Amino acid sequence: MRDTIRFLFGETERAIRNPGPTQTVLEWLRTEARACGTKEGCAEGDCGACTVVLGEAAGEGMRYRAVNACILFLPALDGKQLLTVEHLRAADGTLHPVQAAMVAHHGAQCGFCTPGFVMSLFALYHTGTGGARAAATEALAGNLCRCTGYRPILDAARAACDGPPADRFAEQAAVTAARLRALVSTDMLSSACDGQRFLAPRTAQTLAEALAAHPAATLLAGGTDVGLWVTKQHRNLETVIAVEQVAELSELAERDGVVSIGAGVTYEDAFAALSLHWPSFAPLLRRLGSRQIRNRGTIGGNVANASPIGDMPPALIVLDAVLVLRSRDGERRMAAADFFRGYRQTALAPGEFLARIEIPLPQPGEVFATYKVSKRIDQDISAVCGAYRLRLAYGRVEDIRIAYGGMAATPKRAVATEQTLGGRHWNRASVEAAMTALDAELSPITDMRASAAYRRLVARNLLLRFLLETAPEDDAPVRLAELEEMPA
Ligand SMILES: Cc1cc2nc3c(=O)[nH]c(=O)nc-3n(C[C@H](O)[C@H](O)[C@H](O)COP(=O)(O)OP(=O)(O)OC[C@H]3O[C@@H](n4cnc5c(N)ncnc54)[C@H](O)[C@@H]3O)c2cc1C
Ligand code: FES
Ligand code: FES
Repeated sequence: MRDTIRFLFGETERAIRNPGPTQTVLEWLRTEARACGTKEGCAEGDCGACTVVLGEAAGEGMRYRAVNACILFLPALDGKQLLTVEHLRAADGTLHPVQAAMVAHHGAQCGFCTPGFVMSLFALYHTGTGGARAAATEALAGNLCRCTGYRPILDAARAACDGPPADRFAEQAAVTAARLRALVSTDMLSSACDGQRFLAPRTAQTLAEALAAHPAATLLAGGTDVGLWVTKQHRNLETVIAVEQVAELSELAERDGVVSIGAGVTYEDAFAALSLHWPSFAPLLRRLGSRQIRNRGTIGGNVANASPIGDMPPALIVLDAVLVLRSRDGERRMAAADFFRGYRQTALAPGEFLARIEIPLPQPGEVFATYKVSKRIDQDISAVCGAYRLRLAYGRVEDIRIAYGGMAATPKRAVATEQTLGGRHWNRASVEAAMTALDAELSPITDMRASAAYRRLVARNLLLRFLLETAPEDDAPVRLAELEEMPA
């Protein structure tokens, strides 16, 4: 056991004994490290003013990722490199290429958002994917600017991020990675501060034991939900058990006909595997939060949080995903559809945690789609999220799964609607009948995101969209007319 975290702050090694379990990195930066370039705008992961970069050893080199310091708890720095806007300029005063490009392209006015943009650009620069508009827009979707406007910033991205990274961080990557490896300890972090306790087990078994010893503890993965409990709801989390360092929960593998995603795998890390087998995940994931959120947020956290408007559960339900739950007594398996028991209630028993999610690989001829509808394209929570999986035999529905988020108190499979489609021709008449069934089966509420009537309309239209994207061409001529006729 150890009670101290070690990390690189820029180039300097830092050690913090008994770090505050829920003290944010942003607060530490501004009040203790006195590095005030990083700003607080919203304190909930939305505006990007607090964006910093975390560096991790990856192979022989480094991987740099933008994250929101306002919802990142201090112990998460353990074994990593923290870079803020103060670290980019060289010792002789030369600006980093992304800073120079922001100056050259007039990317700042009041400057409040600028350090956050610069750090997101720094992370983009280090991906080596280039600064073309699509890549830059995606990398910057989690950064808001109230006065400059985005065109000059996108120009800066294009100018600075073209080509492979060639700054001093890239030159020193192997050395930095070696320094980080030397910092990592195989001992479990167990610290306490101001009546709060923090545990970071390194194996699934020690996690199970820690949870058995502290059944009321809060499990922490990326903290993109839990962080807001602290910064917005001011909740005092007495015991926090982090899953980030649990080796088994970071595993992402394809074996025995399933894609197995450890509960601690982030969206960014799961992106390639998910969108390879189910291309419809790509547009969904690009719109899930922002790059900063996806760099920290996990699919496991999305499932365990059990929000009725989480984006992953409808897809996992229709894909017949299996959730593997683990405790000190062993593992049990459960269909994703059975996991959600009530508003934000799950089937997890005390002392139990989500270990991994297993998604069966698609069968030949199977079609899957998931669609998210929200008020904004980027960085917005769904009003309705629909997911569909279909297998046809000779034009008839052999098997169909339909599930929605935003249509009930839990993510919900629409079983009665599925039954109306079973064995029928996959055409407009069948789907119209199913749309009526859907209205009877699901009763959404009105809230700040959408009215119940709007949600019903969207849910019906998403099913129609699925038909239109999968049905034979002769359905095509009626598409637009039909959409316009939908009741308001
Ligand atoms: C700005 C912003 C934008 C967002 N946008 C979206 C969006 O577009 N779509 C969307 O669906 N969500 C969105 N979210 C919500 C959030 O990012 C996701 O729900 C994310 O997947 C949570 O994962 P996490 O790793 O951060 O979980 P955490 O915050 O660490 O944990 C979430 C919950 O899961 C529990 N938990 C974590 N790991 C385990 C485990 N292994 N076993 C049991 N319980 C566990 C925690 O105790 C907690 O109850 C957004 C959040 C923010 C702040
Ligand atoms: S302060 Fe707004 S995202 Fe962190
Ligand atoms: S420069 Fe003022 S908010 Fe962006």
